[in-house]
Amino acid sequence: MNKITIDYFSDTNTGIPLDIRNAMLSAEVGNEVAGEDPTVSNLLDKVCKLLGKEAAIFLPSGTMCNVIAFKAHIELPGDYIILDETSHPLMTQSGLIGGLVNANVIPIKGNRGIFTAQQIKKYVEAPVLRNIPRSRLVSLEQSTNFGGGAVWSLEEIESISNMCKANNVAMHLDGARLFNAHIATKIPLKEYCKYCNYSPGLGRWLQKSGKFPSNSSLNASVTLTPCFWQVSI
Ligand SMILES: Cc1ncc(COP(=O)(O)O)c(C=O)c1O
Repeated sequence: MNKITIDYFSDTNTGIPLDIRNAMLSAEVGNEVAGEDPTVSNLLDKVCKLLGKEAAIFLPSGTMCNVIAFKAHIELPGDYIILDETSHPLMTQSGLIGGLVNANVIPIKGNRGIFTAQQIKKYVEAPVLRNIPRSRLVSLEQSTNFGGGAVWSLEEIESISNMCKANNVAMHLDGARLFNAHIATKIPLKEYCKYCNYSPGLGRWLQKSGKFPSNSSLNASVTLTPCFWQVSI
């Protein structure tokens, strides 16, 4: 049996090499709230270019990315978030969708974490009764964690996105392992992200597919990103 010598499944497996610890120690820092931390600003610029997004917020963890993105789009307590029944925010993250986001979830039975537009059609389309909660967000995970690294096809993402747009429902991409998908398919990161309003980016990859400790970024448009700041406080 082949012994695994480098395990990029998670930051919890890769450890943090000394050169990265040293780089963190000597990083130039500043007032990030005022946009004056050069290290964070540089990182976010790079992430935005890679993902084709206008703006981003730096966050210490992926859980925060997901919770803040969800929170930014839920308008009324009880609004629906649609996601796979094995998705990370649902299976783990300490029940924060209920606890902090105040949203209901519609868990979809996908195949290794991947569902189809057809499966969610009836939930995305506007409800016919006034007392039915509204669907606000569809969340995808690229590649899937508990699905064992399955990769969403662009075609499926696009058809879900078209349906969401037609019904004014937002899309979130949990990109903890986005670079793994990119490396497997060679499809540019921007292509995966262009259908989604929110896309956790480079930091997430550095975390899971590289050897970097806690760091994440949530990328979106210049109009949405200030909203992340508001709900992150
Ligand atoms: C798909 C996915 N999303 C989110 C997270 C949460 O990231 P963090 O551990 O940085 O909070 C993880 C962590 O394993 C994950 O696999």
